[in-house]
Amino acid sequence: MAERTGCSTVFDGFAGTTRVGQAFVKSNYTVVSNDISEWSQVFGRCYLVNKKDPKYYSELIEHLNNIRPYEGWFTQRYGGDVYDLTSSNAIQPDGSKKPWQRKNTMKLDAIRREIDLLDLDPISKSVALTSLILALDKVDSTLGHFSSYLRNWSARSFNDLKLDIPAIWSNVYENKVIKGDIFDCIGDIACDLSYFDPPYGSNNDKMPPSRVRYSAYYHIWTTIISNDNPNLFGKSLRREDTSDRVSSSVFEEYRQAKSGKFIAVEAIDRLIKLSQSDWIILSYSSGGRATAKELNEAINENGELKDVVEVDYTRNVMASMSWTGAWLRESADLNKEYLFLIKK
Ligand SMILES: C[S@@+](CC[C@H](N)C(=O)[O-])C[C@H]1O[C@@H](n2cnc3c(N)ncnc32)[C@H](O)[C@@H]1O
Repeated sequence: MAERTGCSTVFDGFAGTTRVGQAFVKSNYTVVSNDISEWSQVFGRCYLVNKKDPKYYSELIEHLNNIRPYEGWFTQRYGGDVYDLTSSNAIQPDGSKKPWQRKNTMKLDAIRREIDLLDLDPISKSVALTSLILALDKVDSTLGHFSSYLRNWSARSFNDLKLDIPAIWSNVYENKVIKGDIFDCIGDIACDLSYFDPPYGSNNDKMPPSRVRYSAYYHIWTTIISNDNPNLFGKSLRREDTSDRVSSSVFEEYRQAKSGKFIAVEAIDRLIKLSQSDWIILSYSSGGRATAKELNEAINENGELKDVVEVDYTRNVMASMSWTGAWLRESADLNKEYLFLIKK
């Protein structure tokens, strides 16, 4: 879809895992990647900005794998014990469930502390943190996000945490990574093409908004990156700043504005209006707040719809990446996902 626009620079406005930006970079586009989350900035620096050969990081990753584990802040909150060797029951004596086994959170405590002690440059630090997050993902006891944990230890949670060099490459172009609200930067981005994949919240009124918020789903990634020992709340021990009262994105809003339009729909309208790019690819989920009719209105008021493609995840190679599986499964099961190509 992007090929037919003849563009060479792409703005990925809601970059998340940065896997779309990575695909654009691999196809020789220059990418500006933005997301409101800490983890997307870390992934972006690791994959899109790094210019060193992956082997450069061998020594660092090897060193981190050999740090002596200890029981620290993460273990005391997120590490669980295996009490019954005859079953996989993960319920702790106080009734809580945990995302990792103690042996692995002890490694997390030690590696995270060491990353700060090493005083790395921002890119090396991002490579180390990405490697740590990917390694933790391989031994977790969750359904792919951190809004609840499993009653029974997953088979992989018994494995030992081991860091590997992420699948990076040496970037040639000057890609850029921004961390912020889309509306703070959209007016200054001069890319030919913008790709917008905002969170679509939910059109299910019974679903509490916090259940579908990215900041709530991935709160532990934020804490690992910031290493700021935040106050926690709730059964899944979320950061206080991811509670419904503090954290919200207009795109995840489920309420209506005074105009009668949904706030989330108005935000999409504003997004298309304020974009400085000649071309926009907008990802749309049928399970989101905006109906197809409302979305069509937003597109036609601000540009011209050139193409619509239904995304078939079964044919999408990225779908095999386990750590983005939760997002993909969600949309594949419940909703349909579309890409709209818009000419401004
Ligand atoms: C559907 S996900 C994007 C997934 C991404 N395309 C990928 O492949 O990994 C939506 C992203 O929007 C981010 N987000 C939410 N509100 C935002 C805002 N106001 N400005 C920028 N990013 C925002 C979330 O942190 C989340 O990563």
